[in-house]
Amino acid sequence: MPAIVLVGAQWGDEGKGKITDVLAAEADQVVRFQGGNNAGHTIVVNGEQRILHMIPSGILHGNTVCAIASGVVLDPFVLFEEIDALAASGTPVSCERLRISRGATIILPLHREIDRLREEARGDTRLGTTLRGVGPAYEDTHGRVSVTVADLCDRDRLAARLVVVAREKEPLLAALGGEIPDWDALADSLAVLGERIRPYVDQVGARVRQALAAGGRVLFEGAQGTMLDVKHGSYPYVTSSHTTAGAACTGTGIGPTAIDRVVGVAKAYTTRVGGGPMPTELVESTGDHLREVGREYGATTGRPRRCGWLDLPALRYAVAINGIDGIFLTKLDVFSGLDSVRVCTAYRVDGEEVTDFPHLADDLARVEPVWAELPGWHEPLGDERAFHELPARARDYIRYVARALEVAVVGVSVGPAREQILFLEDVWPPSRRPQSGILRPMPRPLHR
Ligand code: IMP
Repeated sequence: MPAIVLVGAQWGDEGKGKITDVLAAEADQVVRFQGGNNAGHTIVVNGEQRILHMIPSGILHGNTVCAIASGVVLDPFVLFEEIDALAASGTPVSCERLRISRGATIILPLHREIDRLREEARGDTRLGTTLRGVGPAYEDTHGRVSVTVADLCDRDRLAARLVVVAREKEPLLAALGGEIPDWDALADSLAVLGERIRPYVDQVGARVRQALAAGGRVLFEGAQGTMLDVKHGSYPYVTSSHTTAGAACTGTGIGPTAIDRVVGVAKAYTTRVGGGPMPTELVESTGDHLREVGREYGATTGRPRRCGWLDLPALRYAVAINGIDGIFLTKLDVFSGLDSVRVCTAYRVDGEEVTDFPHLADDLARVEPVWAELPGWHEPLGDERAFHELPARARDYIRYVARALEVAVVGVSVGPAREQILFLEDVWPPSRRPQSGILRPMPRPLHR
């Protein structure tokens, strides 16, 4: 220990990539535990922007080991494009720096095809997926027919697995009007990637457990956001994985007691990309201000994001279901130039205030926001590095959010660059590296 889980507290795109990169400077390992290349984590260093889809956002720090755990769905074609692009821009990704779980699920080209065909067939009720095949790949994980990284590395095992996949998928592809893959050609191209991936393959869960036992610092990097969780998000407008903090345990293979702290990342306002309800959505010019000033276009698909005011009921729910101890508030600089800002403080349904967060899409679509109006500010924020340097009204906004959520704001991001950040609290818990060579387990009280 210590271990921090970092999760998105909204509908994704909260700025997790940047916060992970900053915290990774002091981490021994950064672990991706769910999702796939539907994620787009943006990091800006020395004016250069990198967008990572598969590789953990700790990769730009030379001493941090990055790991892809078994809860991830991994597109090997995209993985190597990303590794090659990083190498071309001066960050070689050696197998000492990147470890990949044998158990991670492989996203096959047919998963992308099924994702696309399903979305087309849905017409107006489409979910607005990223079309990366993530949903169909998770279906196969849970249907127990997926190809794993371990299968990719063994030609015979891969061939046997593809027979199972073909039996399952040929009828489905035919029903959707898709093309049946040339299985031999697919096996050949996967086997080539299998050769390339083999040096990176590891028992990631065991490595993480060892690192934690030895007192190492491990940062678990969540993807997407709380409201996209397959069970606790705005179902069915969700992704297909658990995006909440518990998934760090199930997706890696560690126990909940290994986690010291859960940090949520939330924008100062709300965005959503894809379909589904969004109670605080702005359809007039303020929404355009947030989109243009905040550069709110998808890092993976380039789609314009829907923008709206901060949604406190949704954030309180995120704090509760993730067990968030502290919040990083990002993109506060985007508010500069607004005379006033609004915040949704509660929801009403049929005139009655709602107490439990109605996360299912049909229920969430019925809520009416209750608004509070706060004074805005005109000063730009990008150069501020300490809380007291911020304009008084920006400080008031931060205090307001912390009070409303009953959780500390541990940091504030005021621009895309790595250094445009203010720390309000220490984020890493004190190291518990063992002092002697003997590791003595702490007795655990029976009443826990
Ligand atoms: P999928 O994950 O591609 O199946 O997409 C399901 C929903 O999650 C869609 O509304 C996507 O726009 C959304 N989504 C998936 N990944 C992200 C992300 O990294 N950021 C924001 N939205 C995402």
